[in-house]
Amino acid sequence: MRNVELKSRDPDPARTLELALKLGASDEGAIEQRDTYFGGSRARVKLREQTPGEDELIAYRRPDDDEARVSEYLRVPVPDPAALKEALDAAYGTKVVVAKRRRLLLWENVRVHLDEVEGLGSYMELEALVDVDGDDDGPARERVERLRKELGIDDANLVAGSYSDLLLDSPAALLDAARAVMRHAHVPYSHFPVGAALRGAGGGIHTGANVENAAYPQGQCAEASAIGAMIAAGETRITAIAVVAQNLDVCPPCGGCRQRLSEFAAADTPVYIGSETTTLGELLPLSFGSPELNA
Ligand code: THU
Repeated sequence: MRNVELKSRDPDPARTLELALKLGASDEGAIEQRDTYFGGSRARVKLREQTPGEDELIAYRRPDDDEARVSEYLRVPVPDPAALKEALDAAYGTKVVVAKRRRLLLWENVRVHLDEVEGLGSYMELEALVDVDGDDDGPARERVERLRKELGIDDANLVAGSYSDLLLDSPAALLDAARAVMRHAHVPYSHFPVGAALRGAGGGIHTGANVENAAYPQGQCAEASAIGAMIAAGETRITAIAVVAQNLDVCPPCGGCRQRLSEFAAADTPVYIGSETTTLGELLPLSFGSPELNA
C-alpha cells in the first residue's frame, strides 16, 4: 500500500473540522489509538491498539520531508496485542508510545486526521491512497494539495517528523545540541561559554554560541547566534528552546534574548535551561510583539 501524506501542526482544530465538513468531508468519528514503537528494525514498526477498530502491526518506510511525501506500509491484523507487545518488547525493546485521540474525516478518498496527541498537542494529517494498479501518485498529490489550500494549512506549521520522532525529541536532544555548540563559544573576555539550540517547526535543530568582541558591546549572545542560524536555514518558527552555560547549572536567558526569542516563539514554547524547564511566557510575561505593534 502507498500513501501521499502531509502532516501539520493545527493551531485551530475546531476551524479545520468546520472547513473540512463544509467541503463535504464525511465525519467517521473519533478513535483512541495507542501506538507502541519498537527498536532495532530497518523499517519503522509499531503495534497499533485502537478503539473502535482492529489492533494491527504496521511496518512502514517514508522519507522525513515536510512536503507531501509517499509512504509505503504493510498492515498485519493482531488478535492478541498484549502478547505481541510483550514479545516485541523483549526482542527489540520499546522505543516510545504515542497515544492520541483521532477524529477521522474522509474527503474524496483522502483521510483527514484531526489528532490530539498526548504530550504534543493538536495536529492534522492528510493521507491520500495512491492507486495500487498504476504507479502514478499525481492524482493523490493533487487532492492533498487541494485540501491543503482549502483547509488553510500554513507552511510554517508543516512537520517533517513522525509523532514518535517528536516525542523522542525530548529536552535531552536539544540540550545535547546546545552543549555541543557551546564548545565553540568565542569568549576570551568573559570566559563564560553559552550554547543555545532551537527546535524549528519543520523539525530541524538550529544552534549558536556566544561570540564576544574586543569592542564589548559588539558581542552577541548564544540565543542571537542560534536565531541567525535558524533564519539562514529558512525556518521562522521555534517550537522548543534549550540554553546551557558551562559555568552555571541554570543560566536564564538575558532580557534582550527573551525578547529576541519571542519574535519566533509562543508563550507556551518550552525553554530548557540546564536542569530546569520553563516557558517563554513565564520568562517574558506581558511581552511586546507584532500583535501590539499592529493593533
Ligand atoms: N550570554 C549569552 O550568550 N546568553 C545569555 O542569555 C546570557 C549571556 C553571554 C554573553 C556574554 O558573551 C557572556 O554570556 C557573559 O555575559
